[in-house]
Amino acid sequence: MDTPIVAVITGSNRGIGRAICAALVQQFSGPLVLYAASRTGTSLDLTGLSIAPAVKIYPARLSLTDQGSIAALSSRVRKEHNHCDILINNAGLYYFQKDITTAQRQETLDVNYRGTLNVCQAFLPIMRKNGRIVNVSSQSGQLKYFGPHLQTRFIKPDLSLTELDSLVSEYSRTADEQTPTAAGWPPLAYFTSKAALNAATRILARENPHLLINCCCPGWVGTSLGAQAGQPPKSIGKCWICFLADVSLTGSLEDGAKIPLRLAVGDIGQTSGRYWANDSVASTDNGEIQNF
Ligand SMILES: NC(=O)c1ccc[n+]([C@@H]2O[C@H](COP(=O)([O-])OP(=O)(O)OC[C@H]3O[C@@H](n4cnc5c(N)ncnc54)[C@H](OP(=O)(O)O)[C@@H]3O)[C@@H](O)[C@H]2O)c1
Repeated sequence: MDTPIVAVITGSNRGIGRAICAALVQQFSGPLVLYAASRTGTSLDLTGLSIAPAVKIYPARLSLTDQGSIAALSSRVRKEHNHCDILINNAGLYYFQKDITTAQRQETLDVNYRGTLNVCQAFLPIMRKNGRIVNVSSQSGQLKYFGPHLQTRFIKPDLSLTELDSLVSEYSRTADEQTPTAAGWPPLAYFTSKAALNAATRILARENPHLLINCCCPGWVGTSLGAQAGQPPKSIGKCWICFLADVSLTGSLEDGAKIPLRLAVGDIGQTSGRYWANDSVASTDNGEIQNF
């Protein structure tokens, strides 16, 4: 029997993650093993989809704030298949309100940046040559929201993970002192967490030239995370986050799955270490390379 394509998707139980799973399993007629990871580890409900017999879907437990669960899933995939072809780091969270607690700020950085990086590092040793890692980020992580001195540090070509950790710790300190914007940081922790994820993507791509490692913005999608911004404006100023991010609302979960899916199984040539998005977060296109 052919060696199956082995894929792992985090945050697969709902939102964009579930839509990516649904689209992926319907694309394959040959052997595919999908570890559909979620915090609860419960089965993915794909009722009504037509799925080929060669496609196997296994529920898996993974919490981005529980290193034991990350290591356990990597060990399980190694034991059961000895390799991984596709890792889609979709899970993430957004405390949309401006005044969040220190614990919520820390959780944002721990989940969107450190936890996601931990998953990458746990799976890197078992990624097959030319395997793909997709980090679902956000246009909120683009460096245009950061002061010029911070942009230079984030984009440094030889930035190390240690330096990146220091940058994130520096953000936490200025946020503790309630002076992040004066120091050139964006007002919300989510922006820093996703900028750090993008920078980590670049570093891992540089360090692992045998893999294709990219990050993307899925667009503005009507999930519980995306809907926090309310009815989005074409009216700039109605919703301050939309003004800040210069965005307008896009459509379905399936549209949100398009760019991550392209980076996981579609045509991207040998591109690695780049940020992909559409010109507008309302666009339903398949994404293109954009500036960090
Ligand atoms: N929706 C948008 O407009 C939009 C825009 C830009 C980027 N994104 C990004 O797209 C990704 C998916 O977002 P979404 O819109 O689908 O959000 P969502 O519907 O809120 O789903 C978030 C997923 O992440 C999981 N998750 C949260 N914290 C976790 C943790 N500590 N450990 C493991 N899993 C965790 C959630 O699991 P539970 O069900 O257990 O909570 C859920 O499966 C995120 O990375 C988000 O930043 C979304």
